[in-house]
Amino acid sequence: MMKKRSKIAILTGGGDCPGLNAVIRAVTKKAIYEKGFEVIGIQDGYEGMVRNRYRRLAYNDVSGILSLGGTILGTSNTANPYRYPVKKGATFEVKDLSRLALRNLRNLGVACLVCIGGDGTLAIAHRLQKDGIPVVGIPKTIDNDLRGTDITFGFDSAVCIATQGIDRIHSTAQSHHRVMIVEVMGRRAGWIGLHSGVAGGGDIILIPEIPYDLDTVAEKVKERNRKGKKCSIVVIAEGAKPRGGDVVVQRLVKDSSDPVRLGGIGFVLGEEIEKRTSLETRTVVMGHLQRGGSPTPFDRVLATKLGSKAVDLIEDQEFGFMVGVKGNSLVNVSLQSVAKGPRLVPLNDPLIKTARSVGTSFGD
Ligand code: F6P
Repeated sequence: MMKKRSKIAILTGGGDCPGLNAVIRAVTKKAIYEKGFEVIGIQDGYEGMVRNRYRRLAYNDVSGILSLGGTILGTSNTANPYRYPVKKGATFEVKDLSRLALRNLRNLGVACLVCIGGDGTLAIAHRLQKDGIPVVGIPKTIDNDLRGTDITFGFDSAVCIATQGIDRIHSTAQSHHRVMIVEVMGRRAGWIGLHSGVAGGGDIILIPEIPYDLDTVAEKVKERNRKGKKCSIVVIAEGAKPRGGDVVVQRLVKDSSDPVRLGGIGFVLGEEIEKRTSLETRTVVMGHLQRGGSPTPFDRVLATKLGSKAVDLIEDQEFGFMVGVKGNSLVNVSLQSVAKGPRLVPLNDPLIKTARSVGTSFGD
């Protein structure tokens, strides 16, 4: 058991997503209210650890943030204490500043660090744990692609926003008899594409796990046309690719441990469909809208459960774990196992079968 007045630190790393504040609130409130700990918020993820930027979080500081999007602590999806870019003249030199970051944290006198993040953040958390910092991880990402957990908070909110987008596209697609393509996020995984595609009634859903055939996609559109359906909705995940082809890279983010930013496949697909069907096609990219704004009730509940469970782990001194979801239970997952690549949609996912059973095409 940890003694009263222990201090804990908390940070949010990687891309933001709805529900981060709900976790910060849950961890902080429970730590203070039930356990009598002090809580220090590290600002801007690992950036704050290197630069020694933090602030004390009192109970009232986290009041009223449950439904707020973003993170009150700030985040960074490039800062990594083990590979930190330091300006040298006109360029940057990558340096290992982990000793400085560890010293900064130790000087705060914290008993442990709670890291809320996706695979990149939790991989760094694992290294910190190996370097002697007791760590507890909490899984976050709209992409839902983290190993060791059935679901991450942020995913439900992103699916909800993407679905609202698709819903709005239906009427304009109908009015203009167009093929409308909606590109959604998800990196190399098709979770958002699959779930928003089914929820939004996409006629064709294209996800990275199932490379598509352009002629099959075009044929599905033409078949719908022949049957009197003058418009079609295609939901495509940003990481989808045609058979034998590759993903579309929008940009490379220097200094990021995962520098590839996907995006733009929807426009490429649009041109190909237009060429093959002679039907007018438009593409909408949902982009960062999927990461913004208030979390859904589901994500608020999940975030609160994960945050609360993380404090139990701290109390029991069970460090080096992420709190994961397995079925209806919360489980401890070793941080080591989380950093083993993305969790993709399995080809036998029941939702794929269900979607096919109602006539949805996956372009294969
Ligand atoms: O991992 C979350 C995510 O939103 C991905 O779906 C997307 O590919 C990426 O982050 C975008 O990153 P950035 O915010 O750096 O553009």
